Amino acid sequence: MKVLLPGNVDLSDLALPSTAAGFTYAVDQPVPDEHADAEVLVVWGNPEWQLRDAAARLKGLRWVQTLAAGPDVVLAAGFPAQVVVTSGRGLHDVTVTEHTLALVLAAARRLNLLIRAQIGHRWAGELGGNQPVRDQSFRTLRDAHVVIWGFGSIAATLAPILTALGARVTGVARTAGTRHGVTVVTEADFPTVLPTTDVLISILPAAPSTRHAFDAEVAALLPAHAWFVNVGRGATVDEAALLAAIRAGRLAGAALDVTETEPLPPGSPLWDEPNVILSPHAAGGRPIGAPALILENLAALEEGRPLRNVVER
Ligand SMILES: NC(=O)c1ccc[n+]([C@@H]2O[C@H](COP(=O)([O-])OP(=O)(O)OC[C@H]3O[C@@H](n4cnc5c(N)ncnc54)[C@H](OP(=O)(O)O)[C@@H]3O)[C@@H](O)[C@H]2O)c1
Repeated sequence: MKVLLPGNVDLSDLALPSTAAGFTYAVDQPVPDEHADAEVLVVWGNPEWQLRDAAARLKGLRWVQTLAAGPDVVLAAGFPAQVVVTSGRGLHDVTVTEHTLALVLAAARRLNLLIRAQIGHRWAGELGGNQPVRDQSFRTLRDAHVVIWGFGSIAATLAPILTALGARVTGVARTAGTRHGVTVVTEADFPTVLPTTDVLISILPAAPSTRHAFDAEVAALLPAHAWFVNVGRGATVDEAALLAAIRAGRLAGAALDVTETEPLPPGSPLWDEPNVILSPHAAGGRPIGAPALILENLAALEEGRPLRNVVER
């Protein structure tokens, strides 16, 4: 079985079985004609045009494994329905958790304002020294109500750390229940959950059902002191509605690792908003455990068993 491996990620630990022949390809080039007979394509950071080209030319393809947790770019490429697509769900749990914590704590401790003050050589005394133990603004995770919207693999790693720091965590997903000790509700319960939320963290995938999920209505249900943190996908946020809520003082701020257009255009008003923290889709980016996932799914494919992380489509 011919397996095409992306050249932009270290897969030197991947010991393919004797039944498979691995070939490394450049993700920013069309797959060479000599490899158009591949049955397996492993994907990491391939541009959309490259995937569309592969979808059209690799006629014998059986399985596409993306190392990204979000399969949206692969799904948009148009691979035929019989090609199994699996995601890198689980490979980014730790790094995205770290980045989310960094954004949440930056918001709580107002690093956005502190860095602005530092650049101006100004001692921001209003943000230091004696502070009230409790006030109406979001300043600490202790006793904060943190809502994680998209309570999947990453949330399972993030939630216990937030809890350990004293937060009360609620999850939002498509089905309700208790997951990893956390109460998970559906979006139907937003009207009861959002008004008591201090931080809304979105880890939603990009899908037709999640497009502009964060909109003016959601913003209006949040208290004015709440922060919104997005490490999922930019397409899930109506950025105009978000910015309007922040500018009107109806929302304290937003920390965004992902935006609707990436890279964020230089003219975007998000850049200059003091209470917007931006990072350049930097939360994941380092798939951890990719060789084990590839080997597990390769064995499953060869033996006719179900693969891990199959994407519904
Ligand atoms: N910023 C980055 O660098 C970075 C890195 C990795 C991942 N991501 C993003 O994070 C996303 C989540 O990753 P994950 O590994 O945690 O995925 P996951 O395990 O598949 O979790 C996704 C969660 O979203 C929920 N969900 C899906 N559609 C929903 C909807 N319409 N309304 C409410 N909840 C919905 C799912 O609910 P159910 O459990 O009920 O199905 C599930 O809990 C990825 O798809 C990707 O877009 C970003």
